[in-house]
Amino acid sequence: MSTEKPRILTGDTPTGKLHLGHYVGSVENRLALQDQFDCYFLIANKHAFTTRSDQPDEIRQSVIDIAMDWLAVGIDPNRSAMFIQSEVPAIDELTFFFAMLIPFNRVMRNPTLSQEIKDKELGDKYPFGFPMYAVGQCADILAFRPQLVPVGEDQLPHLELTREVARKFNQLYCGVDPQTDDKDYIKAGGLLPIIEPKLGRVKRLVGLGAPSSDGKLLKMSKSLNNAIFLSDDADTVQKKVMGMYTDPKRIRATDPGETDPEKNPLWAFHETFNNDAAWVDEHRDLYKNGKVGDVAVKRKLVEVLNTLIDPIRTRRKHYEQRPDEVIDVLKAGTAKANAVAEETLHLAKKAMRQDYFSRKLVIV
Ligand code: TRP
Repeated sequence: MSTEKPRILTGDTPTGKLHLGHYVGSVENRLALQDQFDCYFLIANKHAFTTRSDQPDEIRQSVIDIAMDWLAVGIDPNRSAMFIQSEVPAIDELTFFFAMLIPFNRVMRNPTLSQEIKDKELGDKYPFGFPMYAVGQCADILAFRPQLVPVGEDQLPHLELTREVARKFNQLYCGVDPQTDDKDYIKAGGLLPIIEPKLGRVKRLVGLGAPSSDGKLLKMSKSLNNAIFLSDDADTVQKKVMGMYTDPKRIRATDPGETDPEKNPLWAFHETFNNDAAWVDEHRDLYKNGKVGDVAVKRKLVEVLNTLIDPIRTRRKHYEQRPDEVIDVLKAGTAKANAVAEETLHLAKKAMRQDYFSRKLVIV
């Protein structure tokens, strides 16, 4: 009898420290799923090179920061493998094969890529490797043959591409009938599962700032300078919250206030992070009717956020003082990741009739 648990694969691109948007979008799910699943968490350092190939030092620092953030939030290195993408060569090898299974134009129609080209003003100057990362992400995932992929909403187009690649692979090389239901591909003799996304509790956490010209609050993001980081100290959290955008029409505490979380981030934050629903309901009413000031509601939010972040900060300090321990965790996680990815690559090559020899990969 197999005691193996089903696997999870997900990851982050190392372009900075994690913030509250990451926390409710995906990190919370990872923590909750650690018991039931065999978890693999990837630091997508090669993806960081798609737009930052001139900043190797920053990328290296970010890799360490992400690992520290993960350990700090409570990802348990004894249960979950944290690993570095560029140290798992099977991912690259699968990327090349997978790139043959998907039309170039299909990759370019990926809305996440188009949005990134717009947001980062890449125009037509992006490197060849930029669209390639979408195929690479299929390999990141399928190398682990996971059952679930916990991600934020913006990643869904990548996951759809992954499903298409897996269907095609199984049809071409494992003789699976194209009419097969997604959930039955493995039963039908396929190697690669048709994976399912797992979205977070909050699809899109807003940032601390004012809305854009169309009146919509912006998503929390490091580059928009509207984020609270999981590594912010208590004073910084306090300053950020006390200075956040609320209802610009509210001059006095006796003015009626806007409580729509789509318009006032103060309420978006309380609804997301304050576990005391009775407090939130009561004060939402008071705020709406001009009976409680911004300052009191912000103070409560500072308390709520610091309660969440305090233990994260304490654990982060532990690892900041022990950088070698972080490297050891990554090394062990990468070895564990390679064991699975090498097995997938071997099975994939076998299905593709390209299994000429076997090999053994060693990390020293
Ligand atoms: N593209 C993801 C991001 O920027 C990171 C990522 C890379 C990822 N490979 C992955 C996420 C595989 C899930 C699965 O957030």
